[in-house]
Amino acid sequence: MEKSTTVSLRDATAADLPRIAEIYNHFVRTSTCTFATEPEGEGYWKSWLEAHSDVHPAIVAERLGDVVGWGTLSKWNSRCAYRQTVENSVYVRHDAHGSGVGRTILDELIRRARASGHRTIVAQISDDQAASKALHKRVGFSEVGVLRNVGFKFGRWLDVGIWQLIV
Ligand SMILES: CC(C)(COP(=O)(O)OP(=O)(O)OC[C@H]1O[C@@H](n2cnc3c(N)ncnc32)[C@H](O)[C@@H]1OP(=O)(O)O)[C@@H](O)C(=O)NCCC(=O)NCCS
Repeated sequence: MEKSTTVSLRDATAADLPRIAEIYNHFVRTSTCTFATEPEGEGYWKSWLEAHSDVHPAIVAERLGDVVGWGTLSKWNSRCAYRQTVENSVYVRHDAHGSGVGRTILDELIRRARASGHRTIVAQISDDQAASKALHKRVGFSEVGVLRNVGFKFGRWLDVGIWQLIV
């Protein structure tokens, strides 16, 4: 996909859920970027959308009218003192990688985190995920620690880097 093709961003709606699920479930089956091991069904995605809001947005990126990626800011921890800390997720359709969609989504999530008065964004990134690490580094995140052997997928133990951006 050409980098020059304009990407537009908007809040996710219920009508987007099948596309959002399709993008995500591809990575459940093929990648360690998510530690889910079974595709999530319709009920999961309905609850997922309900759990998001203005301060914890779920957004989609469209190119030529087609949803090619999505991103969220979610609660990092439900304890009240953590309320200005959010965790981000970004997923770009597997055949649209490397054309600037991930960066566009993450820039918007950072902008919205600032606008909502959040203090910091945390990302948990499997240590073998070069693209995700490059994207987060590119927009200013730093790795602040690594949890060893906390995941097991595709027959191997996985380390998770904790990345953080103070917004
Ligand atoms: C990580 C992901 C979101 C990146 O999205 P993308 O649209 O392909 O990334 P972009 O094209 O916007 O690239 C952003 C930056 O990361 C770099 N990058 C992207 N993929 C890379 C790769 N495989 N190796 C090295 N750098 C990479 C780009 O060079 C770019 O840097 P630049 O602005 O200096 O050129 C995408 O690969 C993806 O959906 N992966 C699966 C899900 C995932 O890992 N999500 C993140 C965890 S929540």
